[in-house]
Amino acid sequence: MSEQDTAPTTAPATAPAEAPAAKPAPAPQFSGPFREGDRVQLTGPKGKLNSITLEAGKVFHTHRGAIEHDALIGLPDGSVVQNTVGVEYLALRPLLTDFVMSMPRGAAIIYPKDAAQILAQADVFPGATVVEAGVGSGALSLWLLRALGPTGRLSSFERRDEFADVARANVAAYFGYDPEGWTVTVGDLQEALPSVHPDGTVDRVVLDMLAPWECVDVVADALKPGGVVLCYVATVTQLSRVVEAFRDSGQFTNPDPSETMVRTWHVEGLAVRPDHRMIGHTGFLVTARRLAPGAVLPELKRRASKSDYSEEDVEAWTPGALGERGISAKSLRKRVRAATATADAAKAREARGNSADSDEID
Ligand SMILES: C[S@@+](CC[C@H](N)C(=O)[O-])C[C@H]1O[C@@H](n2cnc3c(N)ncnc32)[C@H](O)[C@@H]1O
Repeated sequence: MSEQDTAPTTAPATAPAEAPAAKPAPAPQFSGPFREGDRVQLTGPKGKLNSITLEAGKVFHTHRGAIEHDALIGLPDGSVVQNTVGVEYLALRPLLTDFVMSMPRGAAIIYPKDAAQILAQADVFPGATVVEAGVGSGALSLWLLRALGPTGRLSSFERRDEFADVARANVAAYFGYDPEGWTVTVGDLQEALPSVHPDGTVDRVVLDMLAPWECVDVVADALKPGGVVLCYVATVTQLSRVVEAFRDSGQFTNPDPSETMVRTWHVEGLAVRPDHRMIGHTGFLVTARRLAPGAVLPELKRRASKSDYSEEDVEAWTPGALGERGISAKSLRKRVRAATATADAAKAREARGNSADSDEID
């Protein structure tokens, strides 16, 4: 990822010219009858999805036949409509999951399964002040903005201009307006965060970037005591590094790493089984909480000073530390005896068979 030398610029998240509709878009609506300006997802007979934005007088042309937008406006969400040649289409307002999975991407997005965990593990609450970096394509921004509600504040940082533009456009396309409590600062989090948020004023920080360990100190300064930091990282090397960085800083609780796997199921009659395919890996989450200034974790007081490979590192890979139950000498001897007895019996059987064969030959 390329670094930029430009000074940080914070701006309300105004979308670029082409993103929102030319006329003022209505407030986002998550239920109720379809209105002009709503996005509607049409599923055809072969399961193919098409998303349209309802506009009076407009027509959606399918492979065979057409559907007038006016025929959809006013219908309840979840209606089935027929096109001009009688083919049926299911009309549904897209869920946020549908929207983020199909929106244009600048950078890789956080998947819904991880976004859901992030909201829970980072304890994002309505009205909170949340810092997010980098903003990437804005997928996580959308989940955060929805959870924060109209009284919350989301302060997103992104060091690449063009990614910030994609995110602004995606957020505006989803809400139909630029959320008031959202700002996007173009710049590096390490440099920009202290100038945007005074020390101890942020409730939650969510980092999705290549090197979150570089931001530990600025995050510690920005967070309120007890505030939560959550990092999303894609690889185990990043996971290890970020966990150790939070531990070494002495300003956080012991980090909690986790991974979320969601396995979908096929359920049809008696064919009830996990689906053959699943999203095998996206990333790891690490959360930690900011200690009060000057507080020292009791366990940290006992920690030995660390070299690259300390006794602790070596100990970390012992079977006990890896959660594998050790086996006692006594039960090991018992297993050897059992195995030997099985082997002896097999040999004896084999020997008996051979002698019976030779008896027959005689
Ligand atoms: C994987 S993307 C984020 C995707 C985003 N969470 C989403 O769901 O759409 C990572 C982003 O972090 C940005 N980035 C990396 N390091 C950064 C830093 N120190 N400060 C600000 N942005 C950073 C990158 O430019 C990139 O756009």
